[in-house]
Amino acid sequence: MKIGHRLNQIVEIIKRPYFRIWDCCCDHGLLGMALLDKRVANEVYFIDVLEKQINSLRQKLSRFFRKTGYQWQIYCKDLNQVVIPEQGDQLVIIAGVGSDKTVQFIESLKRKSLADTFDLIVCSVHGNYHVRSALIDFGYRLLDERIVEENGRFYEIIYVSHNADEVVSPVGDKMWDWSNPQHITYWRKTIQHYQKKALGNKYQFLPIINAYQRLRDDENEY
Ligand SMILES: C[S@@+](CC[C@H](N)C(=O)[O-])C[C@H]1O[C@@H](n2cnc3c(N)ncnc32)[C@H](O)[C@@H]1O
Repeated sequence: MKIGHRLNQIVEIIKRPYFRIWDCCCDHGLLGMALLDKRVANEVYFIDVLEKQINSLRQKLSRFFRKTGYQWQIYCKDLNQVVIPEQGDQLVIIAGVGSDKTVQFIESLKRKSLADTFDLIVCSVHGNYHVRSALIDFGYRLLDERIVEENGRFYEIIYVSHNADEVVSPVGDKMWDWSNPQHITYWRKTIQHYQKKALGNKYQFLPIINAYQRLRDDENEY
């Protein structure tokens, strides 16, 4: 099965098996199918709110993943209504939606969850400062993070757990490679994104711009 660079990087960042992985906002389901194929988890749950997508994905799953050994469930559901049960080691993936929605989904899942903890991978479109701040507020710690470029757009893959040692930085930490010109481009674009937002509310966004700028100040000191 062929999946794009961004989804492939999400698959690659997972270094341990899980009892269950949730492919939330799964759309075409390519990510979850790649995880099923790699047998990263005992079972994969697919969730999307669009009935048409879910029906077509259900047909694909029944056709290509019906053999024993592939455990999957598929639900046409608003992610805001989903309750994570207390059942084994679980990883929730929310990829390909905007940062406000991503944060809203995390808040809802955490509020309703019956499981003590679950690991999370988020890969949202823009606004990662907001997403990271929410992860920090929920007490998440960093497992790994990456910057990914696909079709001229940049994404951050942020992989967190309550059982990890490193802190989550609101502007990212180990993902930055200042010898990589793409990362410098992403850093500039991120600052420009928040500079535009600061035109409407400088008190909220100037500290964020400063925090991104300080990343390179530190770099230049050494
Ligand atoms: C751009 S696709 C992302 C697909 C895939 N996760 C990826 O990263 O390539 C966004 C998906 O989010 C789904 N979605 C949006 N709001 C949702 C909600 N409240 N509950 C469940 N799915 C939702 C949409 O139906 C759409 O299929």
